[in-house]
Amino acid sequence: MLLQLNNIFKWVQQGGQRVFLLKDLNLSVEEGEFISIMGPSGSGKSTLLNVIGMLDGFDEGEYHFLDESVHALKEKHRSELYKQYIGFVFQAYHLIDELTVYENLEMPLLYKKVSGSERKAMVADMLDRFNIVGKKDLFPTQLSGGQQQLVGVARALITKPKLILADEPTGNLNSQQGEDIMELFKELNNEGVTIIQVTHSEKNAEYGSRIIHLLDGRKIER
Ligand SMILES: Nc1ncnc2c1ncn2[C@@H]1O[C@H](COP(=O)(O)OP(=O)(O)OP(=O)(O)O)[C@@H](O)[C@H]1O
Ligand SMILES: [Mg+2]
Repeated sequence: MLLQLNNIFKWVQQGGQRVFLLKDLNLSVEEGEFISIMGPSGSGKSTLLNVIGMLDGFDEGEYHFLDESVHALKEKHRSELYKQYIGFVFQAYHLIDELTVYENLEMPLLYKKVSGSERKAMVADMLDRFNIVGKKDLFPTQLSGGQQQLVGVARALITKPKLILADEPTGNLNSQQGEDIMELFKELNNEGVTIIQVTHSEKNAEYGSRIIHLLDGRKIER
C-alpha cells in the first residue's frame, strides 16, 4: 500500500456553520496505480489532491503514507516526506516568476541537494524531453500558457518522484501537447510510478486504471 485515507473530513467555518470541503472520504492507493479523479467544478478535487500531497491539512480522519502517519507528523517531517516522494503538477503553474525556465527546473533538485553536475545533466534531459531547450533562459511571463504548463510538468517530474499528483495537467495545452503528457504519464506509470490526476476529460481519464468520482466533497460510487 502506498497511501491510505481513512474517514477524512475537511471543513471551513462560514457564518457559524461548517461547510464541508471533504466529507468522510476513504481512499486506498497501491503502488503503481494510475488513478483519475473526476467531478464537477467545486466538488473538491483540488482539495483532495492537496491533502494527498500534504500541502493542505484536514480536520478529522487518518492519512497513512508508506509507514508514516501523516496526520500525526510535525510540519518539518511532513515536508521532508513530501519532498522525497511526491511531484506535484498544479492547476495554476506555480512557476517562480523571478527565475528562468532553467532555474525553475533546477529548484527541486537544489531542495534535494543533488550535486551541480548532476543537476545540469538532469535539467538538460528535461529541457530536451519537453522540447523547450530554446526557452531555457526565458522567464515564465515570456512563455505561452501551454509552455508554462509544460515547464510545470517537467519540474514535477525532474526529481523522479514515486508519486505524481497532477491537477488538470493538460488544461492549458493543445491537444497534441496534452496527448504527449498523457503518453509520458503512461510510460512513467509502466516504470512503476504511481499517478493520481484530476481531469475533466473522459479521454485523459481513460489513461488511468481507475476513476474516482467526487461530488460535494464525497466519493460517489458508480
Ligand atoms: N480555503 C477555503 N475556504 C472556503 N472554501 C474553500 C476553500 N478552499 C476551497 N473551498 C471550496 O471548496 C470547494 C472545493 O474546491 P476545489 O478547489 O477542491 O474544487 P475542484 O473540484 O478542484 O474544482 P475545479 O474543477 O473548478 O478546479 C469549492 O466550493 C471551494 O469554494
Ligand atoms: Mg480544482
